[in-house]
Amino acid sequence: MQRGCDFLGSEVAILCGAMSWVSERHLVSAISNAGGFGLIACGAMTPELLDAEIAATKALTQKPFGVNLITMHPQLMELIAVCARHGVTHIVLAGGLPPAGSLDAIKGAGAKLICFAPALSLAKKLIRSGVDALVIEGMEAGGHIGPVSTSVLAQEMLPEIAEQLPVFVAGGIGRGEAIAAYLEMGAAGVQLGTRFACASESIAHPNFKKAFFRASARDAIASVQIDPRLPVIPVRALKNAGTELFTAKQREVANSLDEGSIAMAEAQLQIEHYWAGALRRAVIDGDVENGSLMAGQSVGMVKSEEPVGAIIAELVAQADAALSRRD
Ligand SMILES: Cc1cc2nc3c(=O)[nH]c(=O)nc-3n(C[C@H](O)[C@H](O)[C@H](O)COP(=O)(O)O)c2cc1C
Repeated sequence: MQRGCDFLGSEVAILCGAMSWVSERHLVSAISNAGGFGLIACGAMTPELLDAEIAATKALTQKPFGVNLITMHPQLMELIAVCARHGVTHIVLAGGLPPAGSLDAIKGAGAKLICFAPALSLAKKLIRSGVDALVIEGMEAGGHIGPVSTSVLAQEMLPEIAEQLPVFVAGGIGRGEAIAAYLEMGAAGVQLGTRFACASESIAHPNFKKAFFRASARDAIASVQIDPRLPVIPVRALKNAGTELFTAKQREVANSLDEGSIAMAEAQLQIEHYWAGALRRAVIDGDVENGSLMAGQSVGMVKSEEPVGAIIAELVAQADAALSRRD
């Protein structure tokens, strides 16, 4: 993990992936204080809200942490400027390739840029454009997902790119043995979300946490696209009434497309706003029936509320034991 630790400035190269509404000051600072690397999920926050969240996180930890920004945010450049003012050391851009100017703005501010690489060709393009590290995330993950599993992405991509820059593997990681395996394949570290979402320090509603503790891997299912004209990025979440509500939402947006009352870009934005609202309903309000319970397949390994420090210690001990067995 040394390479990943050197890159992040953390004690262990375990990132807690940004989770909208969940990854705020408390969880982020707890992760970084425990030796991992926390990421604030900016999501749809305004620059003012992000400014306050970064300041509050800094008040809770002296350790490094990063900020995850969504590429389609209309005020992306202002958000980057807020991070620059705070001297944020690492920025993750999620949701697509870095829009024009964003890469230069981030690197110009002295921050390290981490991007998601959904395929080898895109990874090579991102490396050429100057990103500092990559996350490869498989479809086992919670939240928005691609079509390929983590194990296949790791085999296809790590041998080709892991020597060129630090690569962090995400999606479906629940135990340290899996971390050890990806490190052996050349990963610099890993990113987990689902395992940390219900930590004691997470502000997620008790109902949200209870739903995680009860769920097994097969309950975390990917959303289905109902209209071929409306490409929606699948989202993995626990099945509930909200799953059906999303089908209804897609029909409503597809009808608006048919009537010509909205354009495709607006249609996709409406879908993304839907998810942000639905996740808030579950995480903050505790409405686990109608809200979105975004969760990865590793949810079956989340059994009880534990402090972040205990989760990290357990993962590291398991990885360590696995690697020593191979010596
Ligand atoms: C509840 C939840 C919300 C998430 N929200 C975001 C987000 O806002 N932005 C993002 O880039 N990734 C998001 N993710 C993905 C995580 O950052 C992380 O990459 C993923 O959870 C890793 O896979 P795992 O769930 O199998 O551990 C979310 C995941 C979960 C479980």
